[in-house]
Amino acid sequence: MTETLLAPSLADRRILLIIAGGIAAYKSLDLIRRLRERGASVRVVMTEAAQQFITPLAAASLSENSVHTELFSLTDESEMGHIRLSREADLVVVAPATADILAKAALGLAGDLASTLLLATNKPILVAPAMNVVMWNHPATQANIATLRARGVLQVGPGSGDLACGEVGGGRMAEPLEIVTAIELALAPHLPLQGRRALVTSGPTFEPIDPVRYIGNRSSGKQGHAIAAALQRLGAETILVAGPTHEPVPPGVHFIAVETAREMLDACLDALPADIAVCAAAVADWRADSVAEQKIKKGAGGTPVLHFVENPDILATIAGRGGDRPALVVGFAAETEDVLGHAQAKRRRKGADWVVANDVSPATGTFGGDINTVHVITADGIDSWPPATKAEVASRLAARIAKVFEVQS
Ligand code: C5P
Repeated sequence: MTETLLAPSLADRRILLIIAGGIAAYKSLDLIRRLRERGASVRVVMTEAAQQFITPLAAASLSENSVHTELFSLTDESEMGHIRLSREADLVVVAPATADILAKAALGLAGDLASTLLLATNKPILVAPAMNVVMWNHPATQANIATLRARGVLQVGPGSGDLACGEVGGGRMAEPLEIVTAIELALAPHLPLQGRRALVTSGPTFEPIDPVRYIGNRSSGKQGHAIAAALQRLGAETILVAGPTHEPVPPGVHFIAVETAREMLDACLDALPADIAVCAAAVADWRADSVAEQKIKKGAGGTPVLHFVENPDILATIAGRGGDRPALVVGFAAETEDVLGHAQAKRRRKGADWVVANDVSPATGTFGGDINTVHVITADGIDSWPPATKAEVASRLAARIAKVFEVQS
């Protein structure tokens, strides 16, 4: 990925990285490497539990700085006390931020070096939560993160997907590159999409057949939700209109839940005007022309025959608007063959400015999976990106969108 193209440089920026004890700690080593590549100086603090997962030596080698682990270490106190350590950074990053350290920070506990630093610092704090899905969803953790956010603590992730514990759901630490982007944004003088309004559609639509049955599709909403999160992180006021998914609502995003294509269209039109529209929803192409009032019974009158009518095309409708057409309309094209040919035709047919094409043939595992391989098709040509997580694709797409508005402003 050429994700650094738009990245503000981190040269001379000082990051204090607190690594708490979770399996995601191994990703923090990559994070250190990527921060160093961008010119940041990194000082690492590890909790006792973190040292069960990775060694201080590995963190010290990559950061090229000694690693701090003890609150009452005389050496550390003589060289650099905890107050200095917490103040001499431009940003304090906690990655992984476990349920335990979030709870300590929310309560203001200071029983070890990591929690003491969080209490003693006068610098912005960014947390990258990582834990088991049940722990993440627990009201205690949700209350703690809400408390921290209300105090101005910045948050990146967690994403959802397969967790190290074998369960599936929210709680997976953001990828190192997402954390790097969040760090760059936290340290950037202004956000590139500040003052812009973005509309994103995501997830499937469900079209009812009777009170208990519907026609739907396999869209997980992962890509669309990640795009909404990425646009919001770049400062856009973001409205996410989504069909039924299991994805958590990204922090700071205005969320409108819908079920059917017609509800999605209405919600989108209500959300206009917007500067940016990204239609990532997998809208059902058809709906049953009439919805049975009662559950259709087996046996009675043989096999039911459904008659379909076409749903409105939300992307084409938004792209075809007059005065309130968003300046940039981006569609998606999920294809199983001749991906580029179909996507180019779709861009023209629907009047979108860009179409992000991806191959969703079953072998690729794109639907519901975490990796996406996309091609961005514009009037100027095709830009093929290497395989990346959906979160990374979202960050990169948001950065490319920001570039359009940078040029315009
Ligand atoms: O025609 P197809 O469904 O492949 O087009 C995909 C693109 O069009 C996606 O951006 C999708 O969100 C959008 N779309 C829409 N409304 C529809 C069908 C597709 O917005 N009814």
